[in-house]
Amino acid sequence: MDRFESLALKMAFGLMVVFFVALVGLICFTDFPPFKEGKVIQKGEKEYEVHLLARMWAFQPNRIEIPAGSKVTIYTTSIDVQHGFEIEGKAVNLMTIPGAVNKMEVVFNKPGTYRIVCNEYCGVGHPAMYGEIIVK
Ligand code: CUA
Repeated sequence: MDRFESLALKMAFGLMVVFFVALVGLICFTDFPPFKEGKVIQKGEKEYEVHLLARMWAFQPNRIEIPAGSKVTIYTTSIDVQHGFEIEGKAVNLMTIPGAVNKMEVVFNKPGTYRIVCNEYCGVGHPAMYGEIIVK
């Protein structure tokens, strides 16, 4: 075997190990177990935890009301297929994956209605899968 072939093989194997470890980390090391019900929990004056459940073809809860200036920690999962979770006007774009929980923190300073959109094709009801966050 050529010296460079051997090096290329070692590098390819190394990359496979890196991807595998990253994937396992993504799936196993969420500090939050998957849940079966969506809810909003107030943690402080302007601090909320949202457990957002995606299913065909709705988000639960699908209407969230919070005061302006709130810091929201979002935990999201799916109980059926993979969905998307995007908040229009915010840099939030997560996947909701059955069996795993994705987490993100977001601050809502500006009052308004922020639409939640499923941006991952999930079946016939996909184009109508919406929710909203109302910031007052
Ligand atoms: Cu859920 Cu597309």
